[in-house]
Amino acid sequence: MKFVNFLQKNLEIFEKKHLYRRRKVIKNLIDFSSNDYLGLKNNEKTKKSLCENIKNLSLGSGASTHISGYTEVQENLEKFLSEFKETESCIVIGSGYMANVGLISALTTEKDIIFSDELNHASIIDGIRLSKAKKVIYKHCDMNDLENKLKNTHTEGIKYIVTDGIFSMEGDIAPINHLYELAERYDAVLIIDDAHATGVIGEGKGSLFHFGLKPSDRIIQMGTLSKAVGSYGAYICGSRLLIEYLVNKMRTAIFTTALSPVQNFISLENLKILVNEPHRREYIIKLSKYLAENLKSLGFDIKYYGTPIISLITKTPEKALKYTSILKQKGFFIQAIRPPTVPEGESRLRITVSYNHSKIDVDNLLTAFNDIKGSL
Ligand SMILES: Cc1ncc(COP(=O)(O)O)c(C=O)c1O
Repeated sequence: MKFVNFLQKNLEIFEKKHLYRRRKVIKNLIDFSSNDYLGLKNNEKTKKSLCENIKNLSLGSGASTHISGYTEVQENLEKFLSEFKETESCIVIGSGYMANVGLISALTTEKDIIFSDELNHASIIDGIRLSKAKKVIYKHCDMNDLENKLKNTHTEGIKYIVTDGIFSMEGDIAPINHLYELAERYDAVLIIDDAHATGVIGEGKGSLFHFGLKPSDRIIQMGTLSKAVGSYGAYICGSRLLIEYLVNKMRTAIFTTALSPVQNFISLENLKILVNEPHRREYIIKLSKYLAENLKSLGFDIKYYGTPIISLITKTPEKALKYTSILKQKGFFIQAIRPPTVPEGESRLRITVSYNHSKIDVDNLLTAFNDIKGSL
């Protein structure tokens, strides 16, 4: 087959199945799709502080952290994060995707087994694909299924359990207390991806703290700085030994240029706000509850678990796209989420609530949904 034909044929298939993806600049629409839960991506305090400090910051890092790209600001950011997450140490990485891919592939060998929730994020799946370990998928948040699998799978190597803290598309919270119990019982290491939990639950510290648990040597906490932190990059927090190992072994930390000091400065400033302004997360938790309950009353098929991620299930990608398009005409942006991001038959609108939304924005959105319901 000719290369051009290959590309064309595949794009035609995407279009036919309503799975074609287009990137768009969102302008003059109220964004209910962003992961900027705490409204920090445009924070004025951080912008002001950045302007005051920009003269002392390099715009780029110039090299990997292992050559000459490791800066004081990254060191300070790592210190801040390890104190915040109550761990001995921390490594900051280019992105959440790179953190998961690098972490899982650096840790695991062919003797090991990775137990992974079926709804884990793509970056975890890709990390597992890159690893030589055996993979065992357990049913979403099903602790009986996981325990049976842990019981019946033997290895001389290490067992890892890996889970999203808050699931990115579902918005539900992983039962970290049960997962930790199972990790202890079956001598496994628990890897928690707090991409969506950081800044949102557990007083902002993430899903482990949400369950009143404390870090231990068998827990690895990973998270991104790109969602509630409103910046870019990611972190892995854990024991000093773990971080030393990753510094020496993790390819997505070694063979890549370090984050810009400007970006790390933004992360650090926003993290301070995240810690000092708890009313931001209290507000979004209340507002999302209000939105979810009212959407349910309007008769929509809603999945809501007390986090700022609300799913409105449309089942088909076609219907999801239609909703997105009508909402756009009414001044709102809500992205249609379709396979392979979610399983077949589970297309949806993923609605996210931010500190930047007012109660009036939410009421206007509810009015728009009420109109949609009547018009379809
Ligand atoms: C659960 C989860 N893990 C990891 C990532 C990747 O993080 P980043 O966007 O920083 O690459 C995401 C982002 O979409 C996510 O939802």
